[in-house]
Amino acid sequence: GATGLGATPPRRRVSPRGVAGQLYFFEQQEGGKFWHVTDLHLDPTYHLIDDHTKVCASSKGESASNPGPFGDVLCDSPYRLILSSFDFIKNSGQEASFMIWTGDSPPHVPVKELSTDTVISVIANMTATVQSLLPHLQVFPALGNHDYWPQDQLPIITNKVYNAVATLWEPWLTEEATSTLRKGGFYSQKVTTNPSLRIISLNTNLYYSPNAVTMNQSDPANQFEWLEMTLNGSRQYKEKVYLIAHVPVGYLPFTQNTTALREYYNEKLIDIFRKYSDVIAGQFFGHTHRDSIMVLSDEKGNPISSLFVAPAVTPVKGVRQKETNYPGVRLFQYDRRDYHLLDMLQYYLNLTEANMKGESNWTLEYILTQAYGIEDLQPKSLYSLAKQFAMQDSRKFLKYYYHFFVSYDSDAICNMKCKINQICAIMNLDHISYNDCLKQLYRKYIH
Ligand SMILES: *[C@@H]1O[C@H](CO)[C@@H](O)[C@H](O)[C@H]1NC(C)=O
Ligand SMILES: *[C@@H]1O[C@H](CO)[C@@H](O)[C@H](O)[C@H]1NC(C)=O
Ligand SMILES: *[C@@H]1O[C@H](CO)[C@@H](O)[C@H](O)[C@H]1NC(C)=O
Ligand SMILES: *[C@@H]1O[C@H](CO)[C@@H](O)[C@H](O)[C@H]1NC(C)=O
Ligand SMILES: *[C@@H]1O[C@H](CO)[C@@H](O)[C@H](O)[C@H]1NC(C)=O
Ligand SMILES: *[C@@H]1O[C@H](CO)[C@@H](O)[C@H](O)[C@H]1NC(C)=O
Ligand SMILES: [Zn+2]
Ligand SMILES: [Zn+2]
Repeated sequence: GATGLGATPPRRRVSPRGVAGQLYFFEQQEGGKFWHVTDLHLDPTYHLIDDHTKVCASSKGESASNPGPFGDVLCDSPYRLILSSFDFIKNSGQEASFMIWTGDSPPHVPVKELSTDTVISVIANMTATVQSLLPHLQVFPALGNHDYWPQDQLPIITNKVYNAVATLWEPWLTEEATSTLRKGGFYSQKVTTNPSLRIISLNTNLYYSPNAVTMNQSDPANQFEWLEMTLNGSRQYKEKVYLIAHVPVGYLPFTQNTTALREYYNEKLIDIFRKYSDVIAGQFFGHTHRDSIMVLSDEKGNPISSLFVAPAVTPVKGVRQKETNYPGVRLFQYDRRDYHLLDMLQYYLNLTEANMKGESNWTLEYILTQAYGIEDLQPKSLYSLAKQFAMQDSRKFLKYYYHFFVSYDSDAICNMKCKINQICAIMNLDHISYNDCLKQLYRKYIH
């Protein structure tokens, strides 16, 4: 039974009492929790109007498909959708120690419709919104490729945007953190409530393929050097690290043989993550707007790091795309003693229903361990899950693919090529192992 805080809890919890009992037990014993929100993409122009081509600038002249008070799948987020997500977090009853927020606040509109000042004002608005709804929560932000003007071109030296966010985020960050944020858009900081846990917020936008500023540079803003130094320090002081960033490492799951980062930078990061896998207790990204996992293995194929890509709050899609994501936010549970990740609860808003009813009913989509029948979120557990996904007719993979779009379309179909791309992206983050995986699975399933 529960022994209360302060007592030495058993190494593994057992749950004979179902979800409620398990969560109660969890809170009594080891309950560390944090929220992850990403890709808010506020569209301040969103408004309901008879002419559907004029609902939002982010539809780029296309007719909104079924606009309502909480948004439309051809538009970025109305303010009301974003408010509803933070309102849900506020009223969830979950006592989180902190929140990570992995970037992309401005809308998807042509470059000429924004400016440095409008980008800063959108980030300022989102920051003020979080601070007013969740005044006691410490937030660790990371910059996204849209959090700059012109988009994607994040610089390697100080500039107006890095300076502005460093000032906006002063209530959450230390002076040391804001000082590197001003210089290069990245920082690291210990979590106030968890003294041996460090957040490293990387500016992976410097490595993002469309960023022309960093073309041909071996170490933009000296971030690699800083990262190694920081991880080395954490190892020395016996800290654990949660690494957060906007653009993920590894291969994009919905296409073949494509990294979001330039390949050279991807390989470099993978090398560092392998070298410090004993220090890094989890990695958290955004940017793809989809819900996916990755497992990093060492050169011998042993799983050593768990990576999580969180789905967006914005539901936006292109007019020719069939699928998108319903808005999502998630909660991680970790062991306070060693920062091992235990579970993840994915919440979502059924946008169709919210618009029909005129009210937002954010609900639990799934609990990671229960949905897939795994023990925890450790690399070994995720690796064995991915192996099960890879089997022909895996029902767990069908579930994963439904969750990939945050339950947007129960008829979404992933054919064999699609599935191979997904599986290889989950299990292989470097060039050599990814290409081996493609070759193997093509031989096995295509011919
Ligand atoms: C943020 O922008 C919305 C409109 O897009 C506005 O209604 C709201 O008052 C702004 N909030 C802050 C804190 O600036
Ligand atoms: C980067 O290097 C390539 C090959 O060496 C060269 O063709 C290109 O002009 C360089 N680009 C920049 C922006 O320096
Ligand atoms: C890592 O830290 C150790 C101990 O302080 C030091 O000797 C070593 O040079 C550092 N390595 C790097 C790559 O910074
Ligand atoms: C994947 O792309 C790389 C170049 O980035 C290329 O060398 C390799 O042959 C490609 N692999 C496949 C299977 O297309
Ligand atoms: C979302 O709501 C719509 C309309 O009520 C419904 O048809 C659909 O099944 C719901 N989706 C989910 C995942 O519950
Ligand atoms: C909210 O959604 C949950 C789960 O789908 C449902 O059980 C509940 O009745 C809904 N509440 C309202 C007020 O619509
Ligand atoms: Zn985005
Ligand atoms: Zn992005």
